[in-house]
Amino acid sequence: MNQVVNEIQIYVRKKLEMEGSGHDWYHIERVLKQARRIAKEENANLFICEVAALVHDLADDKIASSEKAGLEEVEQLLVPLHKSDQAHVLEIITTMSFKGGNRQPVRTLEAQVVQDADRLDAIGAIGIARTFVYAGSKGDLIYDPSIQPRQHMTSSAYRHEQSTAINHFYEKLLKLKDLMNTKTGLKIAEERHAFLASFLTQFHREWEGSN
Ligand code: ADP
Ligand code: NI
Repeated sequence: MNQVVNEIQIYVRKKLEMEGSGHDWYHIERVLKQARRIAKEENANLFICEVAALVHDLADDKIASSEKAGLEEVEQLLVPLHKSDQAHVLEIITTMSFKGGNRQPVRTLEAQVVQDADRLDAIGAIGIARTFVYAGSKGDLIYDPSIQPRQHMTSSAYRHEQSTAINHFYEKLLKLKDLMNTKTGLKIAEERHAFLASFLTQFHREWEGSN
């Protein structure tokens, strides 16, 4: 592995080891592996994808005290990179987040790769597990039929209003398949999406006591 990538990896691993909302080191490691796989298939710049995957959550409001503080931390980590690579990684991590789904498509192939890798970790079996951990960490319920899933949300409403774990499937997770950027990502997403759908069917059957 590239020495710069290795040093950034050591830093991020230490920082996110104990993170408790499903954005822990193992999330980053899975995104890194998936980003490598997609980057190779799509002929993207592997170095940029690896660095962006490693730092992609450091400036997130769930992890950093503020986005500004998080970005300053990332800028420090990126000092050994060429200036143009620093700018590229910063662009990727500031544009790839879902934030309620109101965002523009990302601009570069490497941003598409890392965004797809992050989104794949939000669906399938792992995505389901992360959603319940996140909801638990916020004090949200598994499900409440009296709370309707929101159709359109501002990024602040998406982040701060009360919701439920099951509503998050309708508010975000089921939308991700159709938002995939790359062919490689879409192929993996289709299988994971089908798993989400069958989980929800079974969940609602058990909720109604109909099986
Ligand atoms: P992004 O990393 O694209 O900004 P988020 O931070 O909103 O996306 O979400 C990352 C993951 O955290 C989701 O895929 C989900 O597992 C979990 N998560 C985020 N918001 C919620 C929520 N309101 N309820 C349950 N899980 C959530
Ligand atoms: Ni992430």
